[in-house]
Amino acid sequence: PLSARVNDQDHLEIGGCDVRLLVERFGSPLYIVDEQTLRSACRQYRDALARYYPGESLVLYASKAWSCLAVCAIVASEGLGLDVVSGGELYTAIAANVSPNRLYLHGNNKSREELILAIDTGCTIVIDNWLDVQMLAELSEQRSNSSPIRVMVRLTPGIECHTHEYIRTGHLDSKFGFDPNQFDAVFNAIAQQPALSCVGLHAHIGSQIFELQPHEDLAGVVVEAIAKAGQYGLNITEVNIGGGLGIRYTEADDPPSIETWVQTVAEAMVKACQQQNMPLPKLLCEPGRSIIGPACITAYRVGSQKQIPEIRTYVAVDGGMSDNPRPITYQSVYRVVLANRMSAPLTETVTVAGKHCESGDILIKDAELPPCETGDILAVLATGAYNYSMASNYNRLPRPAAVLVDQGESNLILERETYQDLIRQDRLPERLAGF
Ligand code: LLP
Repeated sequence: PLSARVNDQDHLEIGGCDVRLLVERFGSPLYIVDEQTLRSACRQYRDALARYYPGESLVLYASKAWSCLAVCAIVASEGLGLDVVSGGELYTAIAANVSPNRLYLHGNNKSREELILAIDTGCTIVIDNWLDVQMLAELSEQRSNSSPIRVMVRLTPGIECHTHEYIRTGHLDSKFGFDPNQFDAVFNAIAQQPALSCVGLHAHIGSQIFELQPHEDLAGVVVEAIAKAGQYGLNITEVNIGGGLGIRYTEADDPPSIETWVQTVAEAMVKACQQQNMPLPKLLCEPGRSIIGPACITAYRVGSQKQIPEIRTYVAVDGGMSDNPRPITYQSVYRVVLANRMSAPLTETVTVAGKHCESGDILIKDAELPPCETGDILAVLATGAYNYSMASNYNRLPRPAAVLVDQGESNLILERETYQDLIRQDRLPERLAGF
């Protein structure tokens, strides 16, 4: 995080707060979110769009990366809107008081209830498939004398990019959106629905992307689609170019800056519109990882160790795949530091393992660390995106707390789950009660 430094005690300090003291106060594992880093990323997107895009623009935060009241509120206070992909994310955004005209609902299998919630709140709905078209038409018929439902159409642009296959979305063999060979049919179908006001087109090509070319290509494809939609009478005034900018997890990663990414996207849009002789649409993007990812670290306490001579040393921490499922899911690589002895020489190469009962529960292979002892604090860096949001209760581990830090102040934003929380939804059929 931006505010990270090493303090006089040789401890890692974030947002003016000593990580060891935070762990003593709030327990471990602990997600520590640096407000300054989060706000700074929001501003970088917003300011770069204002600088490089001559038309109107809006940055949406892809709340799937981390959705909770405090994060939604901070992002919204920076003037961003939100992309939500479920009733739960929508509910959270509304509860955080995000204005509905800045909310966009995605999803390749939205339920009727989710659509109703979206319509009732007045958020924009991104149509992903034919069932969306059909259900929205039905729902709009059931509503009398109300204003049309604001929708966009999600396109699958057929653009390949180099990222993990699980998080690619723009290629043709994708479960999301409409393929180019369906554009005519879907534009035609939506144009027939007076209750749907189709204002925009959307496309997203994948996540943790370092290349710029796919986004440049995307602008061209989307602008051509605007022209096609126009032939069916749809007046497209908004384009959402998705998210996907990668972040630096380790020193080996070298992503473009937010500014460079925005500049590339904005210039490609302007150029494509000029070529088609078309007015500039309002430009939206919806980054998740690059907004929240670098803003958080996860602090763990070291417990047991196992040395296998000549092979490896396992250093176990008090969390693992339940609070960070990314290494086991995508083979993601993270950086770790010994937060309570920051300047100790890195003489060991160890494997940082979680506490779950499976061998694959490894957070970091071959971490360079000083010798660790039980009770030491390890901080894994850049854990803001898709850690808490993908966390589980595997092995019935309570989900960690999260604390927001800024200028020496720390505020709990997620309470640590308790054992009572774990059994709160459990129901015991009567006949099992006294087994
Ligand atoms: N918009 C749409 C429609 C998306 O599907 C996504 C991510 C985003 C925006 C935000 O992308 P970002 O800027 O965060 O790259 N769980 C995986 C990542 C899945 C991304 C899903 N969609 C991971 O941990 O790497």
